[in-house]
Amino acid sequence: MAKAKSLFYCTDCGNETLKWQGRCPACGAWNTIVEQPAQDVKKKASSVSAGVGARRPRPMAEVEAVDELRFNTGMNELDRVLGGGAVKGSLVLVGGAPGIGKSTLMLQICDNLCRFSDVLYVSGEESERQIKLRAQRLGIRDEGLYLFSETNLDDIVAAVQEKKPDILIVDSIQTIYNGDSNSSPGSVAQVKECTMALMHLAKGMGVTVFVVGHINKEGSLAGPKVLEHMVDCVLHFEGEEHNSYRILRAAKNRFGATNEIGVFEMVDKGLVEVPNPSEAMLSGRPENMPGSCVTCVMEGVRPVLAEVQALLAPSAYGNSRRTSNGFDYNRAMMMLAVLEKRGGLMLSNCDFYVNVIGGLTLDEPAADLALIVALASSFRDKPVPFDLAAIGEVGLTGELRSVNAINQRLSEVRRLGFSKCLVPSRSSGKLMAPEGLDLIRVSSIREAIAVLAG
Ligand code: TYD
Ligand code: MG
Repeated sequence: MAKAKSLFYCTDCGNETLKWQGRCPACGAWNTIVEQPAQDVKKKASSVSAGVGARRPRPMAEVEAVDELRFNTGMNELDRVLGGGAVKGSLVLVGGAPGIGKSTLMLQICDNLCRFSDVLYVSGEESERQIKLRAQRLGIRDEGLYLFSETNLDDIVAAVQEKKPDILIVDSIQTIYNGDSNSSPGSVAQVKECTMALMHLAKGMGVTVFVVGHINKEGSLAGPKVLEHMVDCVLHFEGEEHNSYRILRAAKNRFGATNEIGVFEMVDKGLVEVPNPSEAMLSGRPENMPGSCVTCVMEGVRPVLAEVQALLAPSAYGNSRRTSNGFDYNRAMMMLAVLEKRGGLMLSNCDFYVNVIGGLTLDEPAADLALIVALASSFRDKPVPFDLAAIGEVGLTGELRSVNAINQRLSEVRRLGFSKCLVPSRSSGKLMAPEGLDLIRVSSIREAIAVLAG
């Protein structure tokens, strides 16, 4: 008999290859390919064929379609990202770097969930005592909340079948292992198998499952990316190390939109919701400093103000450094080129740094103009007026183009106390300036820079 072949997996993106490579050909990550032993591969093939013939296609007309049953987690920001609450019987994967606050978030939602349902909190990382201490510190009520410190998948499944909780939280998927498999906990094969088993629990018993997954840069653990295609909903919990704001974003959602964000702040009493992100993003904004401009982006249906910062400095030895943090790099490079060619500023000998404050990622063209204004302000060393915001997409000829939902953005700009806003002169739809907000209509970046100089 031919020797069974091993398979190799990328722990970042889950791509399969037949031989080991230093770099994943699919996602380009280095040192993330791991081997999955031959026995596991064989087992996988047989488990697929076992289900053949058990179920049949059904006419669509006979499929009963009732709206999903949803419940609130008690955290509006999380509910918003989930598309209006968690769906009963769904599996939600919450991914994020270690220490970002995933366990804290999960424990905090228990406070509300255990008021009307039984919650089983399984932790493979902390003992029951540790969880209880943390829960006490966070002021979590304890009736209806069961703790289980366990890493063996079979024991967890047995506990769920016995307790029949409405909600199951598993923290984290990388610590759970299936004793029948040869791979080590945290390997691609293990996290896939364990997630599949939890998925069966969710669909079969109607248990709503929240699974925590670590995103690990070194690739020694399989990242949540390899699970994305299996689960109903993937949330990313993001934030910067030295910043207390945390942003929850949906990367995939079978029951809602993926463009909403939830904003939290980590304080000594755990995570608190930030219902007014614009204020948070602008807190501590420097006055009278060149290189900063405020814009308004749409995060789902919610307008959020963001501060774009740019720094231009003469480069040493003619080798310019260019970095962009929170702003799409290619788009930032395009703005730099447009500003040089159409705005007439000599930028090619400059180092160039762009930063968006508060951990937001701006991927909307509406933020273009703010970057142009911040760059021009830094180049000329002249501050942008503190009460001025800028909204508009910039084209390659330096022209300004209209953006969607402009009136909603203008209202938000006004609400946060701005009194002037640069907008594209040609706008689709009627511009309705809120009272107290002067619109400065410009048709090109040259005009915008002239306003700044004047
Ligand atoms: P945690 O939820 O354990 O992170 P994860 O599960 O994503 O690894 O959060 C850990 C960090 O959060 C830790 O560095 C301390 C901080 N933290 C607070 O600042 N305040 C709190 O009340 C709690 C519980 C944690
Ligand atoms: Mg944790």
